[in-house]
Amino acid sequence: MKIIHITDFHLSAPGEKLFGLDPCQRAGRCLDDIARWHGDAAFCVITGDLTHQGSAQAYDWLAERLKDFPLKTFLMVGNHDAREAFCEAFPNTPRDENGFVQYAHATPEGVFLFLDTLKGPVSEGEYCVQRRAWLADQLARAKGKRVWIFMHHPPFDIGIPYMDRIKLEEPEAFAEVLSAHDNIQHIFFAHVHRAAFVNWRGIPCTCLPGTSHQIPLNRESVGAPYSIEPPMYGVVLIEEDQTVVHFDACLDRGPADMG
Ligand SMILES: [Fe+2]
Repeated sequence: MKIIHITDFHLSAPGEKLFGLDPCQRAGRCLDDIARWHGDAAFCVITGDLTHQGSAQAYDWLAERLKDFPLKTFLMVGNHDAREAFCEAFPNTPRDENGFVQYAHATPEGVFLFLDTLKGPVSEGEYCVQRRAWLADQLARAKGKRVWIFMHHPPFDIGIPYMDRIKLEEPEAFAEVLSAHDNIQHIFFAHVHRAAFVNWRGIPCTCLPGTSHQIPLNRESVGAPYSIEPPMYGVVLIEEDQTVVHFDACLDRGPADMG
């Protein structure tokens, strides 16, 4: 089974620049590349920060853009999103009984869970008691099956102080929900705009750059809080006994000089 992970589009109104980049154009080019080379994937997941400021114009652009996209696509919200504006543009995205944009997708290979870690108009993430109860219930239902989790905010530090301050709040409470389950294969996270691998309490976790601006590992290396580095999408290959994650720098790919 192949799935695609892509994240942090930070869309504004079409044509509007963000940090010198055109987020709609870049996200569109990445989606085109996925459609061209990975049309055989089972589905695609976009792990939040779909927009930069939660504008209806940006959500409408994405809704229009995805109409021609050949893969089934699961959308999630991040701290830069606005839940209600998102739901207006994507009314068919499932919500839990409390209105949070989180849901499950069951396949013969196992269960994929898409979590809502949006706190509000702040950068840090939240996974409140209501959301934790939903997750506990989903994990109980998935007993005996393999589970893959997607979430915008990481529940752990990654060694970049600026990002560690705005990770998921109450990580211990989140970890407690997972602690009773040994069937969690992988956590796919976002938010940090970098390719990173983390082993968190025995669970493999990966993140990838966004399609727009990135976050430098060392701010001093670029002299700014954000950087221009290659966007990537993840190509996830799931087999019976392994999960492989490739990171493809789709906009910077070209032939080597074979001369
Ligand atoms: Fe982001």
